[in-house]
Amino acid sequence: MIGRLNHVAIAVESVEKASAVYREALGAKVSAPETVVEHGVTVVFVELPNTKIELLEPYGENSPIAGFVAKNPSGGIHHVCYEVDDILAARDRLKASGARVLGDGEPKIGAHGKPVLFLHPKDFCGALVELEQA
Ligand code: CO
Repeated sequence: MIGRLNHVAIAVESVEKASAVYREALGAKVSAPETVVEHGVTVVFVELPNTKIELLEPYGENSPIAGFVAKNPSGGIHHVCYEVDDILAARDRLKASGARVLGDGEPKIGAHGKPVLFLHPKDFCGALVELEQA
């Protein structure tokens, strides 16, 4: 069911500092920061030949990644995102198998303008999984 790895997201205290690490030490192409108010994050995209890395910084008082960054002040892998062809079919199949879909179970528009869902890490080997419609 899952297809390509769309991105790996790394949550950090500062996307500015993290961008410098990726740009200077690792020699990667890094986008300008974008704040996505409704998701409570500021994000930059690191473009790699075969996938992307998203560097996420908490934005606002109720950022969903604030607790994670507080626990991981030097940053940490926050989630992995896999592409699916049909996000509603994927959701229904997962729910039927007993997996927990976070939130109200309805896809939201993610940072790339496509519908996304998140799956409970305890059902997926300890890793938060994002599904994005390809
Ligand atoms: Co993501």
